[in-house]
Amino acid sequence: MRDAAFDMPSAPSARFQPQDGKPILEAMGITFKAGGQQLLDEIDITIRRGARTLIMGPNGAGKSLLLRLMHGLIRPDRGEVLWEGQPLTKQAMKSQAMVFQRPVLLRRSVLANLKFALSVRGLRGHKRAQKIETALASAGLGHLARRPARVLSGGEQQRLAVVRALACEPDLLFLDEPTANLDPASTAAIEKLVMEANEKGITIVLVTHDAGQAKRLGEDVIFLQDGRVAEAGTVSQVLNTPQSEPARAWRDGRLYLGPQIRTLSGNDRSNT
Ligand SMILES: Nc1ncnc2c1ncn2[C@@H]1O[C@H](COP(=O)(O)OP(=O)(O)OP(=O)(O)O)[C@@H](O)[C@H]1O
Ligand SMILES: [Mg+2]
Repeated sequence: MRDAAFDMPSAPSARFQPQDGKPILEAMGITFKAGGQQLLDEIDITIRRGARTLIMGPNGAGKSLLLRLMHGLIRPDRGEVLWEGQPLTKQAMKSQAMVFQRPVLLRRSVLANLKFALSVRGLRGHKRAQKIETALASAGLGHLARRPARVLSGGEQQRLAVVRALACEPDLLFLDEPTANLDPASTAAIEKLVMEANEKGITIVLVTHDAGQAKRLGEDVIFLQDGRVAEAGTVSQVLNTPQSEPARAWRDGRLYLGPQIRTLSGNDRSNT
């Protein structure tokens, strides 16, 4: 990330405002600072209703932070998140669900994890039991219902986290690297759940480092670098014919070390 001692005169954050499709969520000029650093800088993006939007970019670019801001878990220092054109409220947050980079599961059984999530949304009795059964079946976890969630394998935990989020019937699902460290079969299982959810109309916002996954799942791509939008567009535009140096470097497997870095004294030094 940027060091507070450096002023990086790089290109301003690109805007991402696709023309077609109704916006469900908009980040309007979002800036976030912590620990003396500007971690996100003037992020302007639009998430189209019903679309699958991928957030990509190197480690530390600000992807997880951006997700947490869009989900309303933290508030921006400047700018605003709009949900269906209105400022994001606690009520609107209930229309969203999030699968975190490291699955957050209760120290209880698989079943109890699902029960708890649905109870929080006010579901009880027969309706809840039915939903749990469907969720377990769609994740292939029926036989593990009574097992403590924390002893599941990484892939099983991620599947549980995804179906638990989906059981709450969100309009939009955020997924932060849901298949990192998973084998191809577990990855395919998660991707299937994501695609099925999207076919039912759930808007997907997913962080990934995996170009293959981006091409399989993505429609829109937002490429972050150093807390800014380096480039945004369709998957084929951004991954096949990138225009920005950060996205080009990523495609070519080169290390992108940033544009010119200028010290506060004003002396320029290039680190490329
Ligand atoms: N609360 C905080 N205080 C200070 N720095 C923070 C805070 N939260 C995040 N950061 C920093 O912000 C930067 C972006 O973090 P973030 O987790 O969004 O990166 P990321 O793009 O998701 O990276 P990765 O691909 O490794 O998951 C990192 O340098 C991180 O250390
Ligand atoms: Mg992250």
